[in-house]
Amino acid sequence: MDYKAKMLRDDALKGKTYVVTGGGSGLGKSMTKYLLELGAQVVITSRNLEKLEKAAKELEEQTGGKVLPLQCDVRDYDAVCEMRDKSIEHFGKIDGLLNNAAGNFISPTERLSSNAFDTIIDIVLKGTKNCTLAFGKYWIDHKETQKTVLSIVTTYAWTGSAYVVPSATAKAGVMAMTRSLAVEWAKYGIRFNAIAPGPFPTKGAWDRLLPGELKEKFDLSKKVPLNRVGDHQELANLSAYLLSDFAEYLNGEVITIDGGEWLKGAGQFNLLEQIPEEMWDMLEMMIKSKKNK
Ligand code: COA
Repeated sequence: MDYKAKMLRDDALKGKTYVVTGGGSGLGKSMTKYLLELGAQVVITSRNLEKLEKAAKELEEQTGGKVLPLQCDVRDYDAVCEMRDKSIEHFGKIDGLLNNAAGNFISPTERLSSNAFDTIIDIVLKGTKNCTLAFGKYWIDHKETQKTVLSIVTTYAWTGSAYVVPSATAKAGVMAMTRSLAVEWAKYGIRFNAIAPGPFPTKGAWDRLLPGELKEKFDLSKKVPLNRVGDHQELANLSAYLLSDFAEYLNGEVITIDGGEWLKGAGQFNLLEQIPEEMWDMLEMMIKSKKNK
């Protein structure tokens, strides 16, 4: 078995229904595909209905599952409530929400307009808040339990990161919301968790974030101790598990899946990895000889 294998047993999510924001492309689509393969029914949302409908058809053909594509700009609370109502009307109930929709600009912060900064905060933080509140309030009002919210954050939500400041700021907020509501809404039977993925290449985001030669110049796999980027199935396995009832006792957790990437940047002496074996022999001899004097 290798790391690209599918983790959960067949029908692990049979009878479950999920909403995946940004589910029509990239990582959202990969995670949606696995939910469908496990027997779940899924609503996918984004701003571009045409793209969504194409993705829904493709996913249904590939998995035999049921996908409802719904246009929704997560920045607009009324639109989110409408999306929620249509989802429930169509599938009868929604068991979980995957806050995956995001936006990001790689840019020196001083070059960003105030509106550009707001745009990212609105999609990532306000969008996640809008969806969480819309579904959470509904579940609480209707006394529906065994519900779950999973949000995609990033490892720089806790370290911060230069050149993606709006995204770092917003994702830190999502992480705080996840941990706060994990406690506050546990009494209503709603679990909250988050995933902080490292580099999982997707065509759209990576081409946009690191256009042209930048991608070669900043080979992100070089920053990962395990020396590779992530495979979409690895993220799909983790998200399906966290959304499933197998994870019923997991609440308020932010799970990093990055091959050790962020810790490599953090450890004070991690750069010593570049020292070759012969030099370690020499260094050891020098240190020991000093001790003996
Ligand atoms: N760098 C800096 N500023 C940028 C920018 C860039 N690459 N692209 C847009 N902006 C600015 C615009 O100039 C505008 O500011 P202004 O009104 O002061 O001129 C502001 O950001 C909003 O731009 P707009 O194009 O109207 O935003 P939008 O709401 O249509 O779309 C995104 C914003 C993020 C959704 C869009 O860029 C997108 O689809 N991105 C792909 C999704 C993505 O980023 N995925 C990665 C997930 S990590």
